[in-house]
Amino acid sequence: MAILVTGAAGFIGFYTAQILLARGERVIGIDNLNDYYFVKLKHDRIAALNAMGGDFRFVECDFGDEHALEAAIAGESIDRIAHIGAQAGVRYSLQNPRAYVHSNLVGHVNILELGRQAGVKHIVYASSSAVYGGNDSLPFRVEDRVDQPLSLYAATKKADELMSESYAHLYRIPQTGLRFFTVYGPWGRPDMAVWLFTDAILRGRPISVFNSGAMRRDFTYIDDIIAGVISALDNPPADDGQTKSGGSRSPHTIYNIGNNQSEDLGELIDTIEAACGRPAIRQMMPMQPGDVKETFADISAIQRELGFRPTTGIKVGIPRFVSWFRDYYGMN
Ligand SMILES: NC(=O)c1ccc[n+]([C@@H]2O[C@H](COP(=O)([O-])OP(=O)(O)OC[C@H]3O[C@@H](n4cnc5c(N)ncnc54)[C@H](O)[C@@H]3O)[C@@H](O)[C@H]2O)c1
Repeated sequence: MAILVTGAAGFIGFYTAQILLARGERVIGIDNLNDYYFVKLKHDRIAALNAMGGDFRFVECDFGDEHALEAAIAGESIDRIAHIGAQAGVRYSLQNPRAYVHSNLVGHVNILELGRQAGVKHIVYASSSAVYGGNDSLPFRVEDRVDQPLSLYAATKKADELMSESYAHLYRIPQTGLRFFTVYGPWGRPDMAVWLFTDAILRGRPISVFNSGAMRRDFTYIDDIIAGVISALDNPPADDGQTKSGGSRSPHTIYNIGNNQSEDLGELIDTIEAACGRPAIRQMMPMQPGDVKETFADISAIQRELGFRPTTGIKVGIPRFVSWFRDYYGMN
């Protein structure tokens, strides 16, 4: 039996595959290696997975194309799916909305159909804190209404949760949706603040500080996130008619997965400056369309049910990222 990891060349999918391989699972990784950010990083992640010498097969495949997806997994017995791949990024969804429709809507349905046909035991899929939109009741709770997305990206993630609910109801496919809160760490995403700031500071370039720094984020270190993803994958929700986190009475749970601590953007920049040993040149910018001012996760459900305990604050996580970044670019 194999576990299908989508977006295996991406930041979180790469780590998911890595942990599963390390514990001896057979992993089929798929990714279309698109150029939303520089593709070499995706190739390097796949090379690192191949170098582990585990039971790993990577297939370059677009899961928005149902036939390509079928061909990619032909002959495999898949019993669980970690559907981590998607078109990520809030701001890019204003420039290229169709990429989100293709990967996050059509792609999500294709994965659900695959799960239905293969009769999988569990699908864990990536949602996002972005679904909370402009909610101003903090911390964000899975019980809160999330009907006012501020970007198409957020709307597609909410739609994924709804489509998953319909499949959990109709076909009783156990599913867990994870609303990730700003994930960072080694091998991270080049379009996100931690990478952009580190890159600019180390190269002496100015950084863009949106909303003049009046923003807060629940930054979550990758190791903490992955512990949650793996424990979710190992614990499919029961089909017992009980109400699940997120409100479903079908086997479908939705969890927030964050650090449960909201950090000031200025504090984050101070921490990156300290880790880089250089000052930032801060350029104050207005709020970006689609962005939210603050995120803060109530993680009580995943704490209670899966024992999730994030332990890495930014004072520990940021220096680890900066150190990896310097190594990756040979800046030591
Ligand atoms: N990193 C975060 O802070 C964060 C926060 C909230 C939600 N998420 C969600 O978590 C998931 C993983 O995010 P990430 O940070 O690893 O992003 P990422 O962009 O590094 O990884 C996503 C991967 O999916 C692949 N992909 C996209 N469309 C595809 C398609 N049609 N077919 C095959 N592969 C495709 C991409 O090539 C990429 O490698 C995404 O669903 C994202 O929306 C991430």
